[in-house]
Amino acid sequence: MTADELKKQAAYAALDHITTGGIIGVGTGSTVNHFIDALATIKHKIDGAVSSSIVSTKRLEEHGITVFDLNETGTIASYVDGADESNHLLQLVKGGGGALTREKIIAAASEKFVCIADSSKLVDVLGTFPLPVEVVPMSRSYVAREIVKLGGQPVYREGFITDNSNVILDVHGLTIMEPIALEKTLNNIVGVVTNGLFAMRPADVLLLGSEDGTQIVHAN
Ligand code: 5RP
Repeated sequence: MTADELKKQAAYAALDHITTGGIIGVGTGSTVNHFIDALATIKHKIDGAVSSSIVSTKRLEEHGITVFDLNETGTIASYVDGADESNHLLQLVKGGGGALTREKIIAAASEKFVCIADSSKLVDVLGTFPLPVEVVPMSRSYVAREIVKLGGQPVYREGFITDNSNVILDVHGLTIMEPIALEKTLNNIVGVVTNGLFAMRPADVLLLGSEDGTQIVHAN
């Protein structure tokens, strides 16, 4: 199977892990695109969705799924999103698609975070995938210098503006042995809006598409 077929498998499996009857939180990315298509098959069972990006909003609306503002909904029962990497504690690196800030907000506002991915995303140690950091544009060089002091190699994602009108530094060269500590340290750099470590609020369940069927992983 291709990586995309494995993503699709995990995305459709997520239908068995969400609470219907209300509003579903929806992430961003190629795996989530499959989930949105899957959600459309049961749209009569939900009231609608909250969305983490303009791209996901468009796809949801094309399927006839109503998209709500998170400020109108209160706590979300289930949030479904992809990841660039997950460790065995279901701490994630996210933001390859640049939607990390809104993704982290919805994850924080949700009771259950269902992460969907192909099996290549499960790793022992986070950091091989460059860690995205969203920054206010005028702080870009300052934040980059601070990240170098932490041992990372920040690379400006040229030509990319987030949905929040900010820019992204992709940090290479990190071996992230203490994800929660690094998430907090990066959050404390002035100018950082969000970093792509989802460690303080990890996923609750990870669904991995694989040749042997979907693996269900809980934190251990
Ligand atoms: C977007 C994300 C995505 O969930 C992450 O990049 C995984 O993407 P894909 O499903 O395309 O592999 O965090 O900001």
